[in-house]
Amino acid sequence: MTRLALIADLHFGREIEDLLPHLLVAIETARPDHIVIAGDFVQRARASQFRRARAFVDRLQAPWFSVPGNHDIPLYNILARLFWPRAAYRRHISQETEPTVQTDTATLIGIDTTDPLRVQRGRINGAQIDRVCAEIKKDDGRLAVIIAHHPFHQNLEVEKNLMRGAAGALEAWSDCGPHVILSGHLHSFLVEPFVTRKGGGQTLQVHCGSSTSTRHRGNPNDLAIIDILGSKINISRHTFDPADGFKPHSHYSYAATPSGWKLKPVL
Ligand SMILES: [Fe+2]
Ligand SMILES: [Fe+2]
Repeated sequence: MTRLALIADLHFGREIEDLLPHLLVAIETARPDHIVIAGDFVQRARASQFRRARAFVDRLQAPWFSVPGNHDIPLYNILARLFWPRAAYRRHISQETEPTVQTDTATLIGIDTTDPLRVQRGRINGAQIDRVCAEIKKDDGRLAVIIAHHPFHQNLEVEKNLMRGAAGALEAWSDCGPHVILSGHLHSFLVEPFVTRKGGGQTLQVHCGSSTSTRHRGNPNDLAIIDILGSKINISRHTFDPADGFKPHSHYSYAATPSGWKLKPVL
């Protein structure tokens, strides 16, 4: 089994200082094999904010895996945004913006979906889609887990634009095999199998809200604990209450079948 702790949208610069120790305890209690951080480490890509984000990740007690988000590239410094957009992320967080890690039961595939030409909107290109497809097709007993800041599908009421290339990626990957997408960006929690979309039954998308910041848009701060057992996956959302810390809120269990992801009763 592989246990992941998914956190996202830390937004250092707008973090809730008193929440941070509770988040560390929640993660340590879950004893994950890897902590997945789905981008937006900081609010405005300033060095002081990145230093605070770095101090936080240095306190994590398990290996962590990350991709950048749109807030991790400069907004107002146009030169930096155009010519070295990921320099601060590389300096403070990780040299690698698209890591790949194998565990016993999963292959974690990081995708950098930031686009320096857009403020919010992400993008994915053909080479990134092909790289993911090759990993999914390996069929080595590991579940392909794609980690990207921007979600690949969102509900109609979401005001943000869906990233460019998302529909094409989902269509391509549906021919490659079962896979899971972990993301953030929307600052809201969702577990969504694409069973109702033509050709989309192979994708299970999970995105969590802002784990640490005041930018939670009325949703509680949260994280997800994800257990990957072969073709089965259990997801547990934990939400933050200032009086109580992070506590389990809801649970989901899915199994990959030839006709797509199926919801299983939670035991
Ligand atoms: Fe964000
Ligand atoms: Fe974002």
